[in-house]
Amino acid sequence: MKTINFQKQHTEKPASPEKNFFSGLALLPRSGNDAATTTTTEPAAEAPAADDAAAADDAAAPAATGKKVGVSMPTKDLQRWNQDGANMQAQLEAAGYEVDLQYASNQEETQVSQIENMINSGCSVLVIAAIEANSLSTVLENAKSAGIPVIAYDRLIMNTDAINYYATFDNYKVGATQAKYIIDTLDLDNAAGPFNMEITAGDPGDNNAPFFYNGAMDTLQPYIDAGKIVIPSGQVDFATVGTPKWDTATAQSRMENILSSNYADGTQLDICLCSNDSTSLGVQNALAANYTGDYPIVAGQDCDKENVKKMIAGKQSMSVFKDTRTLAAQVVKMVGQILSGEEVEVNDTTTYDNGTGVIPSFLCEPVFASADNYKELLIDSGYYTEADLR
Ligand code: BGC
Repeated sequence: MKTINFQKQHTEKPASPEKNFFSGLALLPRSGNDAATTTTTEPAAEAPAADDAAAADDAAAPAATGKKVGVSMPTKDLQRWNQDGANMQAQLEAAGYEVDLQYASNQEETQVSQIENMINSGCSVLVIAAIEANSLSTVLENAKSAGIPVIAYDRLIMNTDAINYYATFDNYKVGATQAKYIIDTLDLDNAAGPFNMEITAGDPGDNNAPFFYNGAMDTLQPYIDAGKIVIPSGQVDFATVGTPKWDTATAQSRMENILSSNYADGTQLDICLCSNDSTSLGVQNALAANYTGDYPIVAGQDCDKENVKKMIAGKQSMSVFKDTRTLAAQVVKMVGQILSGEEVEVNDTTTYDNGTGVIPSFLCEPVFASADNYKELLIDSGYYTEADLR
């Protein structure tokens, strides 16, 4: 049986239940499927910002006074991290915390030194969305020695027992949602095919990327096995289809090569399975420049503004909406629960092993998005304005 890394930490902490950061863990099941859910997450679209902030405020207020929370984000280059950072800052401040929010320009060394500063400047909790899953072990040893709890935000941080909790969206379900859309749209249970598919996956250094890939590929595998989906380039393995740093230009040039080698003779491309919106944009650019057949199904994830515009324009078929307000609210709640020694709300204690044991996790719900439901999902919920999408 695997040992949750908290158990090690728990035994190292003082016995006083009120003072102990990790006292709630005594109530967690140690293994098996009986997840320690205390409440279920609301579907993302039903959680407007004001409500989330209020919920976070309620949960965190007693512990907040005078405490500083370090929030380390990977990059400002992608829209979603700007929203994540802004939501975290607003909701933490509303709950009474001081916030040290830093962006690391997708540079691993920059993220390490920013975290080092957060530790040295007296942050009480660290919330980290890692650039590279394995690059933080050394700096987080210092956090652990200083008794600073660490929450992995959106992306699991690997191979360090300094991680206390993980909050994310159900990453496997993101990929499964993309696959389900493809199956339904092409009526794969009835249609004979074969349909031609190409795959663009995420950053091999991001622990989420294989979850997205596996969620999609496991769901599509029966149709691949039945010969209803084929992959003319032969590029199927995660290692082959990944996109370092989720870079749009990298995804574009790879897709241009695939198109010129396999589709220049007029072969029809039916499906572009892209793990997220930034890679999807690269694939769409390649299609615009190098492909003249019937436009394929193009998947994505995040509902970035540019990509919602592409959905409205018919260039991207679907995306997966992950409401960053909901994730921020959950993390702010976690921070409050950790600092006040309450039981920390998690709903998954089996899925995310970071190499040192399973990290107790809270998984928020990803939601299917397309040109048909974006208004209700994104505009009516206050996530974007109409003007954002013009
Ligand atoms: C996130 C995605 C995002 C990607 C690129 C992943 O870790 O879960 O939402 O598109 O990183 O930033």
